[in-house]
Parts: sequence; C-alpha cells; structure tokens
Amino acid sequence: MGSSWFLMWILLLGLLGTRVYGLGVNWGTQATHKLPPKTVVQMLKDNGVQKVKLFDSDRTTMSALAGSGIEVMVAIPNDQLAAMNDYKRAQDFVKRNVSIYNFNGGVNIKYVAVGNEPFLTSYNGTFVNLTFPALQNIQNALNEADLGDSIKATVPLNADIYNSPDDQPYPSAGRFRTDISDVMTQIVQFLNKNNAPFTVNIYPFLSLYGNDNFPINYAFFDGASQPIVDKATGIQYTNVFDANFDTLVSALKAVGFGQMPIIVGEVGWPTDGDKSATIDYAYRFYNGLLPRLASNRGTPLRPGFIEVYLFGLLDEDAKSIAPGNFERHWGIFRYDGQPKFALDFTGQGQNKLPVGAQNVQYQPSKWCMFNPNAKDLSKLADNINYACTFSDCTALGYGSSCNVLDANGNASYAFNMYFQVQNQDPMACNFQGLAMVTSQNLSQGTCNFMIQIASAASLVRSLLLSLAFVTVLTLFML
Ligand SMILES: *[C@@H]1O[C@H](CO)[C@@H](O)[C@H](O)[C@H]1NC(C)=O
Ligand SMILES: *[C@@H]1O[C@H](CO)[C@@H](O)[C@H](O)[C@H]1NC(C)=O
Ligand SMILES: *[C@@H]1O[C@H](CO)[C@@H](O)[C@H](O)[C@H]1NC(C)=O
Ligand SMILES: *[C@@H]1O[C@H](CO)[C@@H](O)[C@H](O)[C@H]1NC(C)=O
Repeated sequence: MGSSWFLMWILLLGLLGTRVYGLGVNWGTQATHKLPPKTVVQMLKDNGVQKVKLFDSDRTTMSALAGSGIEVMVAIPNDQLAAMNDYKRAQDFVKRNVSIYNFNGGVNIKYVAVGNEPFLTSYNGTFVNLTFPALQNIQNALNEADLGDSIKATVPLNADIYNSPDDQPYPSAGRFRTDISDVMTQIVQFLNKNNAPFTVNIYPFLSLYGNDNFPINYAFFDGASQPIVDKATGIQYTNVFDANFDTLVSALKAVGFGQMPIIVGEVGWPTDGDKSATIDYAYRFYNGLLPRLASNRGTPLRPGFIEVYLFGLLDEDAKSIAPGNFERHWGIFRYDGQPKFALDFTGQGQNKLPVGAQNVQYQPSKWCMFNPNAKDLSKLADNINYACTFSDCTALGYGSSCNVLDANGNASYAFNMYFQVQNQDPMACNFQGLAMVTSQNLSQGTCNFMIQIASAASLVRSLLLSLAFVTVLTLFML
C-alpha cells in the first residue's frame, strides 16, 4: 500500500511537472496608447498566465486584476524610494495600495517590489542609500498590517550588481560589486529574516548587444559547441543564463545565504531596434527557455524550480531608449496585444501562436505619408526630427525592421508614427506641407506602418458622436 501511494505521488508530480509553474510576465505600461486593463487581464487568462509583475500599483490595473486569482507583484518606482524612507509614508502605501485589495475577490498580491534596478551603475549611486531603508519600512509595515506572512517585499536588481573577478572569470567566483557589497549584505540579511526572496533580472540579449565577440549560441539554450568550464568546480556551462544565475548563487553563498530563494524578475528577448533583436532570435530564446523551466531542471548550482517573470508582455512605445532602440520592443505581444511569434506558455513546446487580445478597437485605416509633390524640401529633416521626438521611430535604425526604406519612405514612416500618436488628428499630418493623409497602407516587407489602437478619449468621442447622431435622427423624425 505504501509503495502504491508512493507511485501515485510520483505520477502526480510527473503530471504537475509538465506545466511551467510560477511562469509570470511583466506588464509594463509606458505606452502612448494602452490596451484597456480588462482586455490585458483576459489575455493573461486566455494564455494560462498565473502571475504578473507590475511597475506600479495603478488603480485601474489593480481593479482589472481583482477577482482574477492572478498572483501580483506590485511595485514602488525608484522616484518614490526617498518618500518610503519615512515609515509613516510606507505605512500609508501599504494601507492604500496593498491592504485595500486584501479581501475575498480582491487582488492576490504576493510581493511588493521596492524600486526597480536601483543599483544600476548608470544611476551613479542615486538610490544606493535609499533602497534598504525603504525595503525595511515596507516589509515592517506589511508585518504590522498582519500581511507579512503572505506578502513579501523584495528589490528587483539588475545582474550588474555582481560579477566574477577578472582573474577568476567563472560563476563559482561570483561576488557582489565592491561599491555596494555592504548594502547588499544588509539587504540579503533582511530578506532572509523575513523569508523573502532575492529578485534579479537576467538578460542574455544584453550580453550579446554589448559585445560583438560574444559567442552567440551561448545566449540561447540549444547548446553552445564549446561549453565554458568553471575552473574551480569543473561544471560546464552551455548558456549565459545558467552562468549568470550561478554567479548570483555564489555571491549569495559568499555572504552566508547560498540557499536564499531567487526569483528571476525579468528575462526575455526584444524583437526590433537592433541587429540581434529579431523575431527569429526571440523565438529561439523563448522556445529554449520555457521547456527548460517546465522541466524544473534549474541551474547546475541550483537544481529545481525557478520562479520566473518574462519581460515583457507588450511593446511600450514611450519607454526611454537610453539603453538602446530595442527598449520599445520587448513585448511577446505587439503594442495592440497581437502575438509576434509562436510560444507555448505551458512549456510543452507546442508550436502555436499565443492567444492575442480580443476585440481591440483601432483608429480608422488611415496613414500619414510624405507628400511626393512637395516642392521645398529644406525643412524635411527638421520635420522628421520633430515627428520622431514625439513618437517612436526606433524601427528605422540600423538592423531594424524598417531600415530598408528609401528617404521618402523614412519620412512617411516618421510622419505616420506621429500622426498615430496624435490619434490621427488631421493637423498632425501637415509638417509644413510636406505630408498628406492616405488610405493606402504603405507597409512593406518587415516594415509595418501601424494604425494605433483607439485611445480611451477617442472612444468616448465616437460614443458622443453616435449619441449626437441618434439625437439628430430623433429630432429629424419628429
Ligand atoms: C498608491 O496608490 C495611489 C492611489 O491609486 C497612487 O496615487 C499612488 O501613486 C500609489 N503609490 C505608489 C507609491 O505607487
Ligand atoms: C551619471 O553620471 C554621468 C557622468 O557624470 C552623467 O552623464 C549622467 O547623466 C549621470 N546619470 C544620472 C542618472 O545622474
Ligand atoms: C551614502 O552614505 C554613505 C555613508 O553615509 C556616504 O558616504 C555616501 O556619500 C552616500 N551616498 C550618496 C549617493 O548619497
Ligand atoms: C532612413 O533613416 C535611418 C534612420 O535614421 C537611416 O539610418 C537611413 O540611412 C535612412 N535612409 C535613407 C535612404 O535616407
């Protein structure tokens, strides 16, 4: 009897093991035109995504998530970290943005992200002294509100907070960056005391982007021909994700917490804006990563389940492009919630497109283009520059999807992007007489001349117009 129970357990575990448990996605909202939150939540459900990581705790997003059962990581942006150094403000945050959703049919909050990659070297230490006190205050306020057992505060950190020394360039030599090693030790001790996880963002794409000599196969999961050997342990690494993750495991071990749970807060591959940011590579990356996660293989130093949040759900056309043009193209789905490539969120390797957003409302089928009859072209460059300053022209750059356009095509692309951001306002397609509206789709090859989704405001306008229309009709009939 005992052994048959044991067998049943094995079978059950085997069945469970075929699903990607804990697979989550990041839902960023830095877009000029956002899909309605309810549409996005439906999309998550349609694809069986059970966890979502946010970058704030926006009320409309949270109400759309209410009752869905989806596990949520809410976040405190970096510019709020200073405020959270005041315990009263932290209590207030927990009351307004966490406790308020803690009811039957509310939001299933699991984590509060305190800051977002606050120790990036490009921030020049701005948040180095603000992050730990904010983390302490938020967790202590959660504990005080009796939520601390089920909701943990954590700090999503970028992978450049740890590294291996130049003379021992392998994972087992991993240590926290020397300039932040004190604060990292304090953070790790505090997380451990509260049974909270460490959160890290790992980007194999950035390894490739930053270095033309990077062995490209090492960015993916289908086997690098020459594994990189850890000289101290003899472990062979065939992909940079494992190597990077194990560098963190070693850094944690060095400060005495080698067993601390680790969440991968962001991992993904962009599809445009760089020569390595392509749909083919994104497909290869995700279709290697997801089955691996589903197999619960883990990494050499940390076998087993890893909790992972993919980055990201949707393209965001208003993100800063300081890190690179690819920043606006991280979506597994396009700006309008339509899938870009086949990907199986369950990790069973089914080669099919994920389910896109349903009933998306678009603006009319109109584009803005360069006016071929324009005589004076002296202001063309200025006008293109203006259009691209207030819209997203990142697809025009070298190695990107619209880099094949000729000069007129470039101008049309820029003018159209601006026109769409401005909700097709006719005034936004003039550009000193250089532009005109067209009903002809100028998309060619990989280059998509987009139609934006209808903004909330334009939906209201069309509703009012139809109401006015009905009123006029009624008057006419009387
Ligand atoms: C908390 O929620 C309020 C109300 O929705 C919002 O205005 C505020 O920005 C949120 N605070 C933070 C730190 O996200
Ligand atoms: C960091 O310092 C560099 C060089 O001094 C400067 O260009 C950059 O704007 C600074 N960044 C921030 C976020 O302060
Ligand atoms: C952080 O605090 C340390 C120690 O008090 C101080 O030396 C350092 O200048 C501070 N850094 C910033 C960026 O304020
Ligand atoms: C189109 O614009 C891109 C990005 O600004 C530029 O690299 C390319 O050379 C332009 N093409 C032509 C034909 O002007």
